[in-house]
Amino acid sequence: MIKMTRVATVGAAAAGLMAFLVPNVMASSPGQQQAAAPAKGGSHTKPAPSPQTLRALADRAGIHIGTAVNADALAGEPQYADLVGAQFNSVTPENAMKWDAVEPTRGTYNYTQADQLVAFAKAHGQLVRGHTLVWHNQLPSWVTAGDFSADELREILHQHITAEVSHFKGKIWQWDVVNEAFNEDGTLRDSIWLQKLGPGYIADAFRWAHQADPKAILFYNDYNIDGVNPKSNAVYDLVSSLRKQGVPIQGVGDQGHLDVQYPAPHDIATNLARFDKLGVQTAITEADVRIPLPADNTEVEAQNEAYQTLLEGCLLTKHCTDFTVWGFTDKYSWVPGTFTGEGQANIYDENYQPKTAYTVISQDLTLAGR
Ligand code: G3I
Repeated sequence: MIKMTRVATVGAAAAGLMAFLVPNVMASSPGQQQAAAPAKGGSHTKPAPSPQTLRALADRAGIHIGTAVNADALAGEPQYADLVGAQFNSVTPENAMKWDAVEPTRGTYNYTQADQLVAFAKAHGQLVRGHTLVWHNQLPSWVTAGDFSADELREILHQHITAEVSHFKGKIWQWDVVNEAFNEDGTLRDSIWLQKLGPGYIADAFRWAHQADPKAILFYNDYNIDGVNPKSNAVYDLVSSLRKQGVPIQGVGDQGHLDVQYPAPHDIATNLARFDKLGVQTAITEADVRIPLPADNTEVEAQNEAYQTLLEGCLLTKHCTDFTVWGFTDKYSWVPGTFTGEGQANIYDENYQPKTAYTVISQDLTLAGR
């Protein structure tokens, strides 16, 4: 019911949303936490949890709100950990479940930081998105420089997926099984996996992950597939083909890494609706919106609009289950190290103060939860 209500509410409101938001956004300090009204029964009882947290608003809107988590900050900074636990109801390890972290040498596994995140999530009533099993990046050198035969490499991949998914069996909500397998023109990326194993590695990866944890929801994940374009068309065709073959692929992750220098993907709802029709879930898995620095007011408003475009696209899509930001604070963003001269991509600043991007997200979630 909430899902249908949320779709109708946001759909009706989406058009006028910016007009509604701009005065409010400028007026209220971003993400201001109004004191929770004392719970019924007077002030002697524990106050109700603040209805203003993103996770409380998301619960009412029928969607999960998540963040990628920096393992060192989670372990070392109480303020960081407090915000992860208070504001989000799903978490994704930014790096702790990637191949170079989990199997740094062949057959030797290190789940320490990943287990810490899974334990944190359990303690805070959060779901965990596993990220990621098969990628061309962050592979240890023993894989990339191993000069293995096709059969050897296929067995190495099979072992890795089986070992990692089995280790977390029952604890991972959604797995990003295969990450970024396409080029911008819709052709398959010429990774070590394609070179050595051919395109069949994708179906194999999903089958092996499903065998290891039949209850995990298995996603394909990629960037620049927010709107309808050659890359998202290729993803659509892949998912359609794999499902016709009975391959257990159940979700598509649209990463949502945006830049205010380019238009927001206003056709996102059209794109995501296609996957609804295929019978798969979708999620915005890595939302952030980078700005050339120093940021001006126009660029900040463009950032707000870009975040809203991603979130509203998900809220308008019946089986879009999760909106995850790729790290919530500018303090630990991957952007400055990758895009020289750009930054301020997240919804909290480097001092853990919520930005207007936080405010527009909370207001969209409020609307969707009505
Ligand atoms: O762990 C080593 C450490 O031992 C070493 O001292 C340090 C300095 O060289 O590097 C550390 O590894 C870094 C790793 O993050 C863990 O912090 C790598 O250099 C660094 O390149 C790596 O960056 C990550 C990036 O993926 C790698 O491509 C970012 O944190 C992470 O946010 C980013 O996330 C990806 C998603 O997984 C997939 N979608 C795109 C997204 C952005 O690239």
